[in-house]
Parts: sequence; C-alpha cells; structure tokens
Amino acid sequence: MTASPFDEIIERRSTHAYKWLRHDEKVLPLWVADADFKCPQPVLDAIQDRIEHGVLGYHKPDVVQPLYDAVIRWVKKQHQWEVDAEWIVWIPGVVSAFNAACKAFCKPGDKVLVQTPNYGPLLQAASLNGLENLTVGTLLENNRWVLDFDELERKAADPLCKLFLFCNPMNPCGSVLTTDELKRVEAICLKHEVLLCSDEIHCDLVLDESARHVPAGTLSEIGKKAITIMAPSKTFNIAGLGASFVIIRDPAIRKQYHHATFGIMPWINVLGQVATIAAFTECDDWLKAQLDYLRSNRNYLAVELNKLEGFNYLPAQATFLAWVDASGLSAKDIQQYMLKRCVGPSAGSDFGDPHFTRINFACPRAYLELMIARLQA
Ligand SMILES: Cc1ncc(COP(=O)(O)O)c(C=O)c1O
Repeated sequence: MTASPFDEIIERRSTHAYKWLRHDEKVLPLWVADADFKCPQPVLDAIQDRIEHGVLGYHKPDVVQPLYDAVIRWVKKQHQWEVDAEWIVWIPGVVSAFNAACKAFCKPGDKVLVQTPNYGPLLQAASLNGLENLTVGTLLENNRWVLDFDELERKAADPLCKLFLFCNPMNPCGSVLTTDELKRVEAICLKHEVLLCSDEIHCDLVLDESARHVPAGTLSEIGKKAITIMAPSKTFNIAGLGASFVIIRDPAIRKQYHHATFGIMPWINVLGQVATIAAFTECDDWLKAQLDYLRSNRNYLAVELNKLEGFNYLPAQATFLAWVDASGLSAKDIQQYMLKRCVGPSAGSDFGDPHFTRINFACPRAYLELMIARLQA
C-alpha cells in the first residue's frame, strides 16, 4: 500500500484526548468512536481564521446563513434530500438531540423502542428520561445484521409505546437499512402511531458501494413527522466541537421539539459553526479519500482478524466500527482478554452483547497491525 496522509501517527495523549487517557500507556486504544486522523485542512483553516479575528462572543446559529447553505448543500449532495432551512434545528450533540426527543414526545409511563445491540446512550435514553425501554433484537440474515421485524411489530403494538429511537447506519453492527426495510419500519410505526427518531450520525460513512443511506425524513408517509439527526462530527473528526442538527419537516412536531430544548440546550459554538461550514462545502475530496482508507482498514481486519482463533468478523456496510464476534475465545471476559494483550476496544457489553468486542478502525493502519500482532502473540 502506498503511503497515505491517514497513515500519519499523531500523538494525542498530551491533548487530553478522551480516547487516549482511559487506559495506561501500554494499551492501544481502539474504543470511543473518534478517529486518530487529522481533520481536513479547510476545516483547520476556517477555525484558524475565525480565531485570528479575535472576538468570540455569542453567535446564534439561526442567523448564520452560510451554515444553513452548507447543511442544505451537503444533505442534497450526499443523500439527494432537498431540505428547507426552516426544518433545521441546531443542537450541540446527537446524544442531546435524542434525549430531547424523549422529553418532547413522551410522558412518564410511556415506552421507547430501541434496537439492540446499540450505542450505550441510545440504550440508556429511556431510563434517563423516566421512561421504559422496549428492546428490539438484531438478527444475522445472509451475513448481514437486520432488525427483528417480528419483534418490532409485537413491541410497537404496546399502546404505551410512543417513540422509536432508531440508529441508521447501525452502531455497532454497521448495517445500512435498505429502502424496503425502511418501508417496513414505516408501516409498523404508522400502524401503531409510533414516532420515529433516527440517529444518523454515521450516514456519511457508508463503505459498501452497493449500499445507500436513506434518511428517515425522506420516507413518504412518516418522513414528515420523523426526527432525523445528523452531524459532521464523525465524518470529519470534529466531535470535540459539539455541532449537530436535527431535521423535522412537520411544524407542530418541530415546535414541540424546540420547546423541550428551551433553557437547557446551548447554541452550537462558534468554532463548531465555522468548522461545519468548511466541512460541508470544501471537503468532498477529503471524505472520498478517508472512505477509501477506512474501506481498506476494514478489509484488512476482515482478513487478519478472521485468521485468529476465536474471532469472527463480518465486514460492516458502514461506520468505522468493527463488531466482532469473540464468543469463540475460551476467555470468560473478552474485554479482560483484550486488555491483557494491551489492546483497548469497546466492550461488547456496553452495547448489550458481552460475546462481542467493538474495534474502532479509524486509525493509521500501523495501529491495526500492532493490534493483530499483539493478539497473535
Ligand atoms: C450512534 C451514535 N450516536 C451519537 C453519538 C455521539 O454523538 P454526540 O457526540 O454528537 O453526542 C455516537 C458516538 O459514538 C454514536 O455512535
């Protein structure tokens, strides 16, 4: 493989990076979902320019026209969705965004559907908001993880079920829902009057050329009422800037959502705003190069991990997260097994399945080679 800018090893411990401070120095951290790559240069330049101006006062995103233009351009280019500026609600993080949906659309005693395995804060959102979780499993069909639609149908029929907190592309399984699958979700939600809130933070990281991300808000029947959450944070490695947005077409639903955020949700900060504008207008080629690098990392893992006894990895359609079945290991505690070998992935139990481990492959290839060497030893 020829050298790539994504091969660069960047020391992060000294910047107090969350990913690098969890374990001691011996452990290679491959857990939390941020990348070890440098952000695209146009993003860094835009932040630098803004800092050089010198004044960093209040900047309400609602009056920043280039921010709207950038999001509208991006969502149209990436997902063929023509979004109206007034549908956009700015929010400083995706976790805040789906918790706000729980507050906005549920009352105490209501139930929230959530697929499992899933990103921890999605699994925890219901209980954090005094609500009850209704979990829906994920099944392996033809080498691809899919929602258990029969279980979804059964659980959605509960009259107290008001909201489906959905994750597409799925974290940790990495599947991208097909149009037909989304139509099945739509039919079930319509039949049982369940509102769809879709966390689409990984939607720009589709690695399989045969897969296409379809935003919940584009669905013909429930799209109008759906709450679609997106962000530049994973795509351009700017999660530390706290910038994301929610798209809600229906004015009444949008108003109700807005209400739930009043007084508790700060504006997205000024550096997050300028970074988003640059990311969504000047970094198309950078993203293409990053996707090539991620695809190659994923394929490397699919070969090398599957050579190791005890591991079984099905390459994901999207995300930079490998959801690896480690149930073939003799170890009782898979996370301890990995840490003993100085490899620090996310524990599968954080997502609801202790037989798995989740490896973040948004890192220089050298880190993955080191991980494989440590697991071989
Ligand atoms: C599915 C999903 N949603 C949300 C987040 C975090 O979003 P934020 O940092 O914007 O709150 C992550 C981060 O890993 C994620 O994987």
